[in-house]
Amino acid sequence: MRDAAMDKKTVHSDREIFRTRPNMAVIIALLSGSGGTGKTTLLACMGGALAREGKRALVIDLCAGARGLDLPLGLESRAAFDLGDLLSGGCDEGQAVISDSTRPCPDFIAAPLDRDSIGIDAAALSELLEKLRPKYDWIALDAPSGVGAGSMLAALVADRVIVVTIPENASVRAAERALESVRSPDRPEPLVIINKLNPSFAASGAHLTPDAVAQTLDAKLIGVVLYDETLARAAALGRVLGPYERSPGFRAAETIADRTLGAASPKRWIVNRRALFASGAIKEEW
Ligand SMILES: Nc1ncnc2c1ncn2[C@@H]1O[C@H](COP(=O)(O)OP(=O)(O)O)[C@@H](O)[C@H]1O
Ligand SMILES: [Mg+2]
Repeated sequence: MRDAAMDKKTVHSDREIFRTRPNMAVIIALLSGSGGTGKTTLLACMGGALAREGKRALVIDLCAGARGLDLPLGLESRAAFDLGDLLSGGCDEGQAVISDSTRPCPDFIAAPLDRDSIGIDAAALSELLEKLRPKYDWIALDAPSGVGAGSMLAALVADRVIVVTIPENASVRAAERALESVRSPDRPEPLVIINKLNPSFAASGAHLTPDAVAQTLDAKLIGVVLYDETLARAAALGRVLGPYERSPGFRAAETIADRTLGAASPKRWIVNRRALFASGAIKEEW
């Protein structure tokens, strides 16, 4: 019997899930129930991967007061203006949107350093996103962790929410709360990324398997990213883009990014599935 998490339907519906209007960006938001699940790191990788594919990608940090996305992108010295400045008219779009033409890198808008995201007005943010939509193929929002105002705001203005969880009980429980708070009959179902899965932990029961996570959350998985020391090091060094781009974690993020743009990749939706299979954490090499 095939696991529910790898049900073909899960994969096939990508194109419908992320149905896009021609020449208009799809807007996704990465949320999580608890901190440290890897939202910021994965978004930096996803944006970098799409930029390298020649896609017009924009990542926006919504973690007001806890700015962090500039670091893995290596753009911290460029963030003179931020989203708060842009929304309040304190700068123009050209000043707030940071582009780096010297390497494949997504465009970036920094989070306010000291402003509470409650202060970011949903209507103003929506209006800005609609203005930016025709200029990009993909726009991604890095939401603050937890189910506070900032993550609810991100969920409200995005086309699609993706909740990131670690395959441990506490994180999955928090992800359940996050999913509950964004699920709504008139909104598309949120999707889930499992990050930092350790195959030998999963084999011994210390980590939940992808299938167990999908069942507990009653949600579709859009990707599974293994624990990747190279990626952790690259993120700590602020160099997720560049020499470390061939790390398994980066490639998994790349696959997920492609899927958010409608690429159905049934066999590639988890990078390093062989390691999971070999460890006994999954029964079939999917
Ligand atoms: N797949 C992964 N393997 C190993 N470490 C990871 C992975 N993804 C993220 N990390 C590390 O986890 C930590 C938290 O990541 P971060 O992106 O800041 O989480 P969040 O934005 O959800 O709070 C960072 O040190 C990051 O390098
Ligand atoms: Mg973060």
